[in-house]
Parts: sequence; structure tokens; C-alpha cells
Amino acid sequence: MERLNAIIRDPFFIENLRKTNEREKERIFCRHGLDHLIDAARVLYILVLEDRLEVSRETAYTAAFLHDLGRWVEYDTGRDHAEASAELSERLLDEHGFKGTEKEIILLAIRGHRVKGAVGILTDAMYRADKLSRPCMNCLSISMCKRFSHGETAEIEY
Ligand SMILES: [Fe+2]
Ligand SMILES: [Fe+2]
Repeated sequence: MERLNAIIRDPFFIENLRKTNEREKERIFCRHGLDHLIDAARVLYILVLEDRLEVSRETAYTAAFLHDLGRWVEYDTGRDHAEASAELSERLLDEHGFKGTEKEIILLAIRGHRVKGAVGILTDAMYRADKLSRPCMNCLSISMCKRFSHGETAEIEY
């Protein structure tokens, strides 16, 4: 997990996370800080094991830690954050030794994390982990959340 930890310590990663945290200070719905990234990474790796995906733990965790890197861009410009996150992540992946197929798998998972069934071996698991990792049963804003607008019940699965 050496390369992932180097990314998490990288000032560029920290700065992007800080921007998102700052813009979400007053947000009543799900936030996209470090807690979310850790939760999403752990659920994603459970799915990797369950689905027997040929992806290493470090690959999966790196995708999860980077999937919302550009969340702040969406607040500032309205641009889709999946696309922005993939673009911002590329530089971190290059600098910390992710290349070839592994880099491609991670970028596809970041780019497709908001779309069910998007291309890439890790992408659909990333989409599912993003949602499954949210502790919705503990949320004060659930009555206003569009995920629960048709009377769905919040349940824990992972
Ligand atoms: Fe996202
Ligand atoms: Fe997310």
C-alpha cells in the first residue's frame, strides 16, 4: 500500500480534499471527505473479494481514495466531478508509479463511478461501493434526500 499512502501524503491530494471540505462545511447531505473515501475503499475491496475481481487491494483503495478528488470543481463550476476527479488524479497516479493497465482501471473507475454498469473491471463495483458505504440510517437529512424520496428504508449491507 506504499504508493497509495504516498498519494494520501501528497500536498496536491491534501489540497484538493481541503477544497472539498471547505465547500461542504454547511452541506446537510453526504459529504466527500476522508471518512467517505476510507468507507468507500473498504466496501469496494469487500466487493472485489466477493466478485473475485482481478484487482489488487492497493488498486481498489487508490480508485476509492481518488474517486471524488474533484468534487469541489462541481461546486465551483457545475462540471461533472467524476470527469474532473479523473483528470486531477492522473497526475498523482503518474507521480506515484501507477501505469499501464492498472492506471487505466483506476481512471475508468473514477470516471464511471456515477453511472451504473460503466466500462472497466472495477467501475461497477466502485459505483456500488460509493452508495453502499454511506451510513444512511444515521442521517439527519434522510427525509430530504433524493435516494429515499419514494419511501425506501435505509439498511446496512456492508
Ligand atoms: Fe462522487
Ligand atoms: Fe463518493
